Amino acid sequence: MNNSDITRRSFLKDMGALVTLGSLPLSLVELAFAGSTKNFRFAYISDAHIQHIKGTKFVRNWDRGLIRAVAEANLLQPKPDFVLFGGDLAQLGTKAELDHGAEMLAKLKYKFYCVMGEHDYYLDLGKYWSELFGPHYYSWDHKGVHFVVLNSILTYDEWTYDRWPTAEQRMLEMAGLDNPNGSPFMVGEKQREWLRKDLEKVKKDTPVVVFSHSPIQKIYKGWNFWTDDAEEVQALLSSFVDVTVVYGHVHQIQYNQLGNISFQSVMATAWPWPYPQSYAQAESYLPKITIPMNRAHPFFERDATGWQFIDIEMGRIAMHYNLYNNTNRTVAYNPKTGQPEDKDYQSPENRISPQIHY
Ligand SMILES: [Fe+2]
Ligand SMILES: [Fe+2]
Repeated sequence: MNNSDITRRSFLKDMGALVTLGSLPLSLVELAFAGSTKNFRFAYISDAHIQHIKGTKFVRNWDRGLIRAVAEANLLQPKPDFVLFGGDLAQLGTKAELDHGAEMLAKLKYKFYCVMGEHDYYLDLGKYWSELFGPHYYSWDHKGVHFVVLNSILTYDEWTYDRWPTAEQRMLEMAGLDNPNGSPFMVGEKQREWLRKDLEKVKKDTPVVVFSHSPIQKIYKGWNFWTDDAEEVQALLSSFVDVTVVYGHVHQIQYNQLGNISFQSVMATAWPWPYPQSYAQAESYLPKITIPMNRAHPFFERDATGWQFIDIEMGRIAMHYNLYNNTNRTVAYNPKTGQPEDKDYQSPENRISPQIHY
């Protein structure tokens, strides 16, 4: 029995009747710092993509993914200190979708924090979302950790304000995955300046955890797994000892290490995306990823959906991924190599081959 099995089993034991439900579409985060920082945990739910059909009808699968995550988060023992929702609550940013999603999130018994996703934003530029959830970017301190939420899905003013005849068309253009009319995401100068000031008051040895929707790194531009000013944001974080960026948007397991910053994605409750490199015709566009990513079986439709435990050991994240119908895995920061690594599947001979498209 490996560590992830033990963690998973003890968690599921706590979950009582929910054991029979198998993996859960949420992420449980446990922060366990050495020294004086208190241990705590929080849950992470992301990418619900609540989609309105008409009248009172919504896409049932996406509803069920979020309802299940909320119900199970409410039963977690020990209780999470708070819950993060990682963006893309709605599919096309309508009031109907955001209201329906907010109604489900309101059933959480804990304080919850929301991250802006592009599917929430590009209809009315986040106005209604703000009425429901508050500011688009903010920070707080909790038990010795500095948490930051960024709105990373902004883009060029010309694209946002001038290019499209209607807000609906702008939303549709940004909602497409493989769409050449989309525009690269960015945090933007105004928000970077806010972040710079925000971090001025944080001690360099305080663990910093940043939540963004798009990755604050450049993975694959063709699908907007990309933040255009990633390097500038990374530079603001570079002087801290322990920095982790947790992001949604990619609907799949990813991890990487750039300098002092560990990157880890969380899974969606709605559906998985395949890895960009699984598309042979797109390979030449991929930047070099410093740590090769493992892929679970791509033909399970629920692959890359589910939930995670995250422990921070010595200020670094160990994320326990619990997959639907697939092998659980733990990706943990390895102090010997200075990067996150899959505990069981990192070595090339143990990897699961990526899907090949012809
Ligand atoms: Fe998404
Ligand atoms: Fe997204």
